[in-house]
Amino acid sequence: MPLHSGTELLGYLYADDVSTDPPPEPTLQLARSLAAELALTLTRERLRAALAREEARYRQLAEGAHDLILTADVRGRITYANPAARRLLGGLPGPGAGETAPPNLSGGADAQGAPSLLGRSLPGLLAGGEGESSLAAFSAAWEAAKRQPEGGRAEVRAGPYHLEVRLSPVPGENGVLVVARDLSILKRQAAEIEQRGAALQVAQHRHLELRSFLALFTQAQEEERRRISRELHDDTAQVLSASGRRAARLARSLPPAQSAEALQLRDDLNAALLSVRRFARNLRPSVLDDLGLLPALEWLTTQIQTPARLEISGTERRLSPALELTVFRLVQEALSNVDRHSGASSAAVRVRFGDGEVEVRIADDGQGFSPQQAQARAEAGHLGLTSLRERAELAGGRLEIRSAAGQGTALEFWLPSC
Ligand SMILES: Nc1ncnc2c1ncn2[C@@H]1O[C@H](COP(=O)(O)OP(=O)(O)O)[C@@H](O)[C@H]1O
Ligand SMILES: [Mg+2]
Repeated sequence: MPLHSGTELLGYLYADDVSTDPPPEPTLQLARSLAAELALTLTRERLRAALAREEARYRQLAEGAHDLILTADVRGRITYANPAARRLLGGLPGPGAGETAPPNLSGGADAQGAPSLLGRSLPGLLAGGEGESSLAAFSAAWEAAKRQPEGGRAEVRAGPYHLEVRLSPVPGENGVLVVARDLSILKRQAAEIEQRGAALQVAQHRHLELRSFLALFTQAQEEERRRISRELHDDTAQVLSASGRRAARLARSLPPAQSAEALQLRDDLNAALLSVRRFARNLRPSVLDDLGLLPALEWLTTQIQTPARLEISGTERRLSPALELTVFRLVQEALSNVDRHSGASSAAVRVRFGDGEVEVRIADDGQGFSPQQAQARAEAGHLGLTSLRERAELAGGRLEIRSAAGQGTALEFWLPSC
């Protein structure tokens, strides 16, 4: 006998009769109805297994969800609450709190210790005693959920929480499915973001203020250097040079015994004159103002102990006085570091005039340094490299330092130029 489920063939029922006569009609009839019954049972078993698998899948989804998921019967009694719902609402007071859960449902507390909600009144739990408007909104949503297939929505306050609740009817079960989300977290996060945004704005404002202060400070420092340099050059140096000449004249008019003393005085005055001139030039080289950047850089490379060369590429041109001064100061400080720290046998300054920018690289073949070393020096108040970067950024450019112990040092910067 074939076993059919609708038109699908499930299998066959075999019966063997030892006698040679064909079985009588009642026996055949019995066999047919037995086969039909068997097919029905098999089908029901298969459907039940499929249903159990589906249910397990949905339960797993609900158990792992961040949203609160609950079901309630028509009277509003909770029949299922996922862990998120138990965690959030389990501790709230309300009608039914502390009642023992009905038997056969996983009552008591869950693995994390959140009290079960089974059997408690959902409307009471969500809106009980938490203000008339909350309760009214929830009741309206509840009624809508039971009547309309699209359900209802409400925002309610439950204890300290602000919940967005969606209710929809459970088809065929006369109950309601509730999915709720805690908006208080979102609201708290939004407030925090706003607060941090405001703090960031204050910090940015402060940063801009410091930047413009630094710009003014740098400008004032340069003006002061120029003034001192000019004063040393025009006044002090003139006085020293005139005194030297006078000492020389004096030497000629004195008898030989005192003349040696006067000549010594002339030599000392000339040495002081050289020293004052060198100091004045380092403060603000007139070659920079008179002849421009490249001769000034050429002069710089002759002022240090490490043998250094200057290489120029691109289309040579004059830059604005402020920009030339910035380039000069950066190279000056970089070369002074080469002399003081690198122990290099040679150094090179490379200037490339590009489209809309000037690129400068100061490289040496010395002992190099690690970022930690530079950091430690900066923390000890040595701000040479820090102020180099600041100055490059003030001019709208950027600066990079590449160095490692034993690998030499290359300091490179790019400044916009028109
Ligand atoms: N060209 C270089 N070669 C080797 N070490 C260097 C070089 N330039 C800088 N450094 C290291 O970085 C440190 C920080 O330099 P800097 O900020 O200019 O401060 P300072 O020159 O006052 O020490 C130096 O003390 C030195 O250890
Ligand atoms: Mg330095």
